[in-house]
Amino acid sequence: MLPRAAGLVSALALTAALSVSLAACQQPEVKSDMPPLPASATAPVVYPKDVHSYAQPQVARVKHVALDLTADFATKTLSGTATLDVTAEPGATQVILDTRNLDIRSVKDAEGKPLAFALGTADPILGQPLTVTLPTFTPGQVIKIVVDYATRPDAAALQWLTPAQTAGGQQPFLFSQGQAILTRTWVPTQDSPGIRQTYSAKITVPEALKAVMSAEMLTPDGEKAADGTHAYRFRMTNPVPPYLIALAVGDLAFASEDGRTGVWTEPSRLAAAKAEFAEVGQMVTAAEGLYGPYAWGRYDLLILPPSFPFGGMENPRLTFATPTVIAGDKSLVSLVAHELAHSWSGNLVTNATWNEFWLNEGFTTYFQNRIMEAVYGNDRAQQERVLGWDSLQAELKSLPELDTRLHLDLAGRDPDEGMTDIAYEKGAAFLETIERIVGRERFDAWLKGYFERNAFRPMTSALFLKDIRDHLVKGDGALDARLKLDEWVYQPGLPDNAVAPTSNAFTAVDTAARAFFADRGPASAIPWSGWNTQQRQRFLGWRPANLRDGADWLTNQQLADLEKTLNLANEGNSEVLFGWLQIAIAHRYQAAVPKLTQFLTSMGRRKFVLPLFTSLWAEGDWGRPLATSIYARARPGYHPVTTGSVDALVGRPAA
Ligand code: BES
Ligand code: ZN
Repeated sequence: MLPRAAGLVSALALTAALSVSLAACQQPEVKSDMPPLPASATAPVVYPKDVHSYAQPQVARVKHVALDLTADFATKTLSGTATLDVTAEPGATQVILDTRNLDIRSVKDAEGKPLAFALGTADPILGQPLTVTLPTFTPGQVIKIVVDYATRPDAAALQWLTPAQTAGGQQPFLFSQGQAILTRTWVPTQDSPGIRQTYSAKITVPEALKAVMSAEMLTPDGEKAADGTHAYRFRMTNPVPPYLIALAVGDLAFASEDGRTGVWTEPSRLAAAKAEFAEVGQMVTAAEGLYGPYAWGRYDLLILPPSFPFGGMENPRLTFATPTVIAGDKSLVSLVAHELAHSWSGNLVTNATWNEFWLNEGFTTYFQNRIMEAVYGNDRAQQERVLGWDSLQAELKSLPELDTRLHLDLAGRDPDEGMTDIAYEKGAAFLETIERIVGRERFDAWLKGYFERNAFRPMTSALFLKDIRDHLVKGDGALDARLKLDEWVYQPGLPDNAVAPTSNAFTAVDTAARAFFADRGPASAIPWSGWNTQQRQRFLGWRPANLRDGADWLTNQQLADLEKTLNLANEGNSEVLFGWLQIAIAHRYQAAVPKLTQFLTSMGRRKFVLPLFTSLWAEGDWGRPLATSIYARARPGYHPVTTGSVDALVGRPAA
């Protein structure tokens, strides 16, 4: 490895545009905390066909994006320029970018001369290709293209929140969500996970607000302008897939956890967030101990307003997370372990296309459990493994068989359709199977090497199979046969070498569940107060074997007993509440409707929102009118990611 200072110089020298923007920066230069790039980052890449992008990277490709954007809350637009550094093959005449729902005002070269451009036909999922005619260039030259544009108020990546939708209630808020193919709704670039780009940005916002990004912050206090705006500058010197370019703007405050970790959130949530995530520094250290150095400098969390559509999003240096993980007792922090793990699986070694999503999420779910084990002990990790396995079993029953393969073919489909427990839990079960067969020590050595060899590179199922055969199996035919690698990757369902995880902590839970649910004992016999969140989730997830669709498994009296005895009407843990509401809806339990309504109108996390509306919808004449009326109230508060999914089920409420 290069000494730190030399690494910094070479990383900076990588992008000419970067030094330009640094020179223009008024404030003293911020010392970079980014480690040097490994050689794997610059070795040539073979781009597999990405059916979710119009880009042709083998002809011309974007290497760096420099944004200069102003956030206007009155018009709900980001507008300004994206200056792209493009390299092209000799003889190339054009570069194709991905866009969706953007207003392109002009495209110019570095000297300001207009370049011809054309927007192709709009596809509802992919958007429109933006084809730009390249200026004449010499081989190897970096070609600069300046796209002047504005986003639309309904850009799918962006949510513009009114002050009333924030915790503080005084200032508006904006955040982006790029994964899977939404970055193209706010940045005109080649939006394919295999096409890594460095980026820099100048973001101009109203004076009272602060901007943060998935990048180094060069101007912690912003630069004040005479017109009452504030500009913030950022740079990301590690090349990243474009879905990891992320921005949030709001009344944000920061609290440090340790030397390299901390939390950003609205001031009123800061103390609770800092306390909840006190172990984040230990998590980073544990992760490094497992699979090698953290490659991104700082690791901070951004706790968003409750409409954030995901639990968490692994934006580099700055995980975005829902406030519903702040349970008050650290019981849901495995979400942080998950997003942190993506700093290796996903952000270093990246799924080359969305057909290979399991390489991001399956590896991350495995790694997440290992971090939990290292920081919170094997009991807790094992409980979470069992919950994951259980949800995989349910998913295997409900999905079409072809969608239970790890390697998918999502041509013509929204990449979101690959976001199932197959990628997460079948993927993790696969790695756990390999670990069990070869032993943890050998498996860890391989996995650490896999991250090193493939850092900053796109990964496919085929490349993964080659890597594990070359570096772990090493020609041992008997081992290869026992692992069933190809069957795991390419065949539906679970191969017979999978083993269900078990947890002693669930034995008593299952006994209590049978006593209450099957044998109709009193709720007072449930040792609820002695259980942790994972045990409570396990209990509420109990279902009779062979439960028919639409059938009840509880009487009204049992429901009332359960609700009252466990105080579920006042439950504050989002996962536990979710488990209870699923039971309540399935039984058309009217008394839970106020709590259900309150939950659905107070947060927009799709993992909770969509299943609850789906369950309501399944309850026909009772559930559908309820779904429609709750959705009419809740929808204005949801992010486009969540409304997109619920609209398809419930329909758009009349305006
Ligand atoms: N990268 C995902 C979120 C994602 C996936 C966004 C696909 C868009 C498309 C993130 O790491 C994730 O998996 N989040 C989970 C939490 C996790 C603990 C399983 C979530 O949001 O629920
Ligand atoms: Zn993930």
